[in-house]
Amino acid sequence: MAENSLTTQEKWDALYRDSETPPDVAEVLRENAHLLPASGKALDFACGLGANALFLAAQGLETHAWDISPVAITRLTENASTRGLTLHGDARDLAAQPPLPASFDVIVSCHFLERPLNPHLMAALRPGGLLFYQTFTLERVDDSGPKNAEYRLAVNELLTLFPSLRVLVYREEGLVGDVQCGFRNKAMLVAQKVG
Ligand SMILES: C[S@@+](CC[C@H](N)C(=O)[O-])C[C@H]1O[C@@H](n2cnc3c(N)ncnc32)[C@H](O)[C@@H]1O
Repeated sequence: MAENSLTTQEKWDALYRDSETPPDVAEVLRENAHLLPASGKALDFACGLGANALFLAAQGLETHAWDISPVAITRLTENASTRGLTLHGDARDLAAQPPLPASFDVIVSCHFLERPLNPHLMAALRPGGLLFYQTFTLERVDDSGPKNAEYRLAVNELLTLFPSLRVLVYREEGLVGDVQCGFRNKAMLVAQKVG
């Protein structure tokens, strides 16, 4: 079958069937883990192999991990059970089945830039809930990340995508200074639903 005729699910399934291990926990979560609540319900949104979901579950949060790829979800739930972690995986199309309003205390969304879903992310947070968001920027120092510019953030764009939330952390270094160091190719945001 020609690659362009594959569905989104088939493309990601094929990739996850062949990949060895989950990537590292995203910087936005690892570097800001002190902001997480001691308990509550967390969602890894478009989780892939779910390094972030495993991290959330290990922190003691009731963790849900959703992705369109059943292969990724199966591998993630097996991985969680090997580690003795409880995690609720669900293979679902997030455009068709976004999270319900006020259903999560923590949402992590990394490397999945689907701007039309952002209102659902804001609505899905409970009062006081936190969004941890990180993805690729147009400004970059190498070729990592998506080639299609639509899937990369413009300068300062991430600051504008979740207007109803209070910004706690924002980091976007662009091409400033020594580009061999720091957080490059991406922007990160931690923001809170107030009230
Ligand atoms: C670049 S990967 C990021 C995975 C993970 N969040 C990470 O940072 O490693 C994008 C993920 O989005 C998922 N995806 C794409 N379209 C989707 C959709 N409509 N609904 C749910 N998941 C989707 C893919 O299966 C893939 O796992």
